[in-house]
Amino acid sequence: MSHIPHRSHWNSRWTFMLATAGSAIGLGNIWKLPYMIGVNGGSAFVLVFVISIFLVGIPLMMTEILLGRRAQKNPLDGIQTLAIEAKKSSLWRYLGGMGMLTGLLILGFYSVIGGWVLAYISEAVSGSFSQITAQQSTANFDALLASPFKLLFWHTVFMLMTMSVVAHGVNSGLEKANNILIPALFAILLVLLGYSMSEGDMQTAFQFMFKPDFSKITPVSVLSALGHAFFSLSLGMGAVMVYGSYLQRNVSIARTTIYIALADTLLGLLVGLAIYSLVFANHLAPNAGPGLIFQTLPIAFGHMPGGNIIGVLFFLLVAFAAWTSSISLVEPTIAWIVENTKIKRHAAALILGVAVWLLGVAVALSFNEWKDIKIVFNLNIFETLDKLTSTVLLPLGGLLMAIFAGYFMNKNHVQEELNLNDQAFKLWRIANNYIAPIAIAAVFLYLFGLIK
Ligand code: TRP
Repeated sequence: MSHIPHRSHWNSRWTFMLATAGSAIGLGNIWKLPYMIGVNGGSAFVLVFVISIFLVGIPLMMTEILLGRRAQKNPLDGIQTLAIEAKKSSLWRYLGGMGMLTGLLILGFYSVIGGWVLAYISEAVSGSFSQITAQQSTANFDALLASPFKLLFWHTVFMLMTMSVVAHGVNSGLEKANNILIPALFAILLVLLGYSMSEGDMQTAFQFMFKPDFSKITPVSVLSALGHAFFSLSLGMGAVMVYGSYLQRNVSIARTTIYIALADTLLGLLVGLAIYSLVFANHLAPNAGPGLIFQTLPIAFGHMPGGNIIGVLFFLLVAFAAWTSSISLVEPTIAWIVENTKIKRHAAALILGVAVWLLGVAVALSFNEWKDIKIVFNLNIFETLDKLTSTVLLPLGGLLMAIFAGYFMNKNHVQEELNLNDQAFKLWRIANNYIAPIAIAAVFLYLFGLIK
């Protein structure tokens, strides 16, 4: 066995919840979910997304936490330990390894988008949204994407922010950052909601998001809603697992998971409502896609009383959310390095920081100079990383974790960790052993064109 020094733990159940909610709440909730709702026909997508969170997301989040807490190690060594405990092949460790790699690949593009958000904070602060026209707003966004210098500058700042937190470790890094940023994030959310209730068109936004219209549900919207439930809860790569490995034994996994999932889902939906109420009040289109918060929203801010200040607050909110998520994307690999080598946390953060930064450079260039370099299926570097991770690697990781916990681990060990009453444990097993694997397998079959 390698030398395993002292392992840190969260100070309380509360800080674990803040940190895991911080990982879950991110660009996925504020940037991606609202525009996916817009592109996929509104309420139908919302409904399927919420069902996916409950049927697949919550049970699998419990699974990841229980794997981490039982193993008390980074994902790679952790799954190996559990496999050995269950007298199963230690090859399962590569599941942990795949997750760690997936996290780094995600961070490669997450950091570039995080950089867009930082760039927009500076735009908002300089007052450049004032009276902006639709053409100007589009031109602004296009100019950002066309400038390698700007993209690289902000990507570098975002990487420095991420790595400086991770370098400080569980208690004085991750825990401290989340303790400050997550409450601040919710405070800004309240201001934003108050503002959109008084200045926006909440009624139309509400109808758009919640008035059931089943005719709009298509196979594609179902699959992208399920996939997004995964991404939104940070599942499938070991981020939640490593956070769970810092969790004390006496905390109820089920209860904490439900709070975290509710916070993540609610925040996504509330931010969506706030965004759409401003969009509709200004007669703008809800289906702008990835440009929704960067092109459409600034037009709304630019034409509303106090919109400049709200614009600054909004992009601060997005930045806080992205920052607390990005740290969870590297923490599994950092934990692995620290627990297996003599390299110290600071140095590990520096090494991984440089590696992921380089990947991000390629991503940033794929918006301009390298736009036409296609990797697979006619996708450029950014699109390849995005699709590869969120439609293949994360669901695959989640599927294998569910199978490992459901069919390979000793049932009593699982029950010991979850500590549920018989009925609740049965429910979890049905979700983990049947519903989640079947749902994920359906996504794969569909993607590979095997079912229509
Ligand atoms: N959940 C985050 C978001 O919604 C992104 C994220 C952070 C993530 N860590 C993850 C996604 C691990 C998948 C796996 O933006």
